[in-house]
Amino acid sequence: MRILAINGSHRPGKGTATLLQAALDAAKEEGADVELIELSQLNIGFCVGCNTCMGKPHCPIDDDMHEVVSKMLEADGIVLGSPDYFSNVSSRMKAFMERTRPLHMIENALKGKVGGAVVTAGLPDCGAEKTLAELNHFFAIQEVTAVNPRPAGPVAGNGPIATQFAGLDETGRTRWRNVKADSTGFAFARQLGKDMVKLIERLAV
Ligand SMILES: Cc1cc2nc3c(=O)[nH]c(=O)nc-3n(C[C@H](O)[C@H](O)[C@H](O)COP(=O)(O)O)c2cc1C
Repeated sequence: MRILAINGSHRPGKGTATLLQAALDAAKEEGADVELIELSQLNIGFCVGCNTCMGKPHCPIDDDMHEVVSKMLEADGIVLGSPDYFSNVSSRMKAFMERTRPLHMIENALKGKVGGAVVTAGLPDCGAEKTLAELNHFFAIQEVTAVNPRPAGPVAGNGPIATQFAGLDETGRTRWRNVKADSTGFAFARQLGKDMVKLIERLAV
């Protein structure tokens, strides 16, 4: 079983990558082969709206997207990660999504795969849930079955969202922490990895 994570952050190895890796680590513990792709390390151009993919499942742009598409087609599960930028995905993640149009226009080539989404943000209640919903809606368009995890125990959050907010200091100013300190968001991300493996196994029988 292969699970591929795709990071839409402009900053490789930072918060979003770490949250994705938490999901992958948990999936690996359950037996999956895992890989993390940093879009920022690849040459992926914008979709230019040539509409070639309306006639055949092909994109004429000669760049690294073709390798990413091959890996997506080989994977059983795909985890997408993005920072929350103005209550939406990063421009890099959006550009990637647009370039998947050849996987969608003739038929949904990713249909039946299992998806999962994670988001990092500066603040709670500042758009991250909408960003998560954008990623999950992308999966819906592609007929990828998205997992929504819930770690055991009392309700502590609403998805694999990790934030940098660390409360207010005595003067009322915001205190920041590394996104890695959001143990709730990371618990959700780990649960996502586990749940994806379980669902892939169930769908395989
Ligand atoms: C252009 C820009 C827009 C942002 N918009 C929001 C926002 O709307 N809400 C929020 O909570 N954080 C926002 N942030 C903070 C990022 O979501 C946060 O820094 C994120 O965790 C960075 O992920 P990374 O470490 O992978 O780069 C924004 C940051 C930038 C640079």
